[in-house]
Amino acid sequence: MKAVALCRESLPALQDVQLPPPLPPRGRDLLVRVQAISVNPVDAKQRAATTDAMLDRPRVLGWDAAGVVEAIGEEASLFASGDEVYYAGDVTRPGCNAQYQWVDERLVARKPTTLDFAEAAALPLTTLTAWELLFQRMPLQLDGRRHAGQRLLVIGGAGGVGSMAIQLAQHAGFEVIATASREASVDWCRRMGAAHVIDHHQPLLPQLQALGIDSVQVALNLADTDHYWDELGQIVAPQGHVGLIVEPRGPLRIGDPYKAKCIGIHWEFMFARARFQTADQIEQHRILNRAASMIDAGQLRGTLSEVLGNINAANLQAAHERLASGRTIGKLALSGWE
Ligand SMILES: NC(=O)c1ccc[n+]([C@@H]2O[C@H](COP(=O)([O-])OP(=O)(O)OC[C@H]3O[C@@H](n4cnc5c(N)ncnc54)[C@H](OP(=O)(O)O)[C@@H]3O)[C@@H](O)[C@H]2O)c1
Repeated sequence: MKAVALCRESLPALQDVQLPPPLPPRGRDLLVRVQAISVNPVDAKQRAATTDAMLDRPRVLGWDAAGVVEAIGEEASLFASGDEVYYAGDVTRPGCNAQYQWVDERLVARKPTTLDFAEAAALPLTTLTAWELLFQRMPLQLDGRRHAGQRLLVIGGAGGVGSMAIQLAQHAGFEVIATASREASVDWCRRMGAAHVIDHHQPLLPQLQALGIDSVQVALNLADTDHYWDELGQIVAPQGHVGLIVEPRGPLRIGDPYKAKCIGIHWEFMFARARFQTADQIEQHRILNRAASMIDAGQLRGTLSEVLGNINAANLQAAHERLASGRTIGKLALSGWE
């Protein structure tokens, strides 16, 4: 089968390779014929962390895919051959930058019927991150517009995670304030549902105050944990919540004002369930199924901004470089193996 992989002789470049045909899936695994993939900062992080010594065979990256179930393991029961699916998968296993991939069915869901494969591949990793952070790590509720009258700040609103976080928070009833620094990313945040957009390259509190906002109940820092830490301590209301997804570069001072205000600090790591084989891994199946229903019902919109061509090393390298600029809007995808 075709794949794009890291190989000892060409590290750190990505290389087009031919790998042996996949063996039949076992246990709860599905064998998926990958039709489209998306890219995420985790690809670059894994690429940078891959050393010569780890490459006794080519290493396939990629943790956002849409495709068709080719075969199911003897203990799999959620899917049948021919089902169209989308998933992020497990960072501790080979990724989706290959024509076929094994993935545990508990991490997989039915693909939204109203999206094509590239649009679907753009969604899983960022949707799971935003959803788990908001509704499983933080004590927030998706349904019933329970958060009407409350405000939520999304730092990095036009990024992959931010694009979905804005939509989910708005669905939950929040008035969403997003940050973006360029005309195109400001427009994108508004299209995702942000009521206000402020510039993350300027101090945030004065911009909020200019909008008549003194505090927010919830802030999601989706870009730079250290940089916004002190300011968020000022901005978040007493008994509010801060959500984090980016590893800090140094120690964080979790005392006042966080302690004085009883601000909840919540971490999300989208691969935690798969990595630690938690008993509730199937939550990712449920979240992505519900997200697919919301997409198909027009309650959420896709976040794909561009398809960069077929899945091959040159296009994937270009996608990684675009992502490394830190200026992508929404999601990039690659589709097909021609
Ligand atoms: N813990 C987890 O499970 C998890 C999951 C997914 C991602 N992550 C991490 O979360 C981060 C975001 O991921 P992503 O996929 O959303 O990234 P992304 O799509 O690459 O984010 C791009 C956006 O970031 C904004 N941005 C750039 N510098 C910024 C800054 N200093 N402050 C605020 N916003 C800034 C840009 O907005 P402008 O162009 O408007 O400046 C751009 O639209 C990455 O570090 C990623 O590794 C963690």
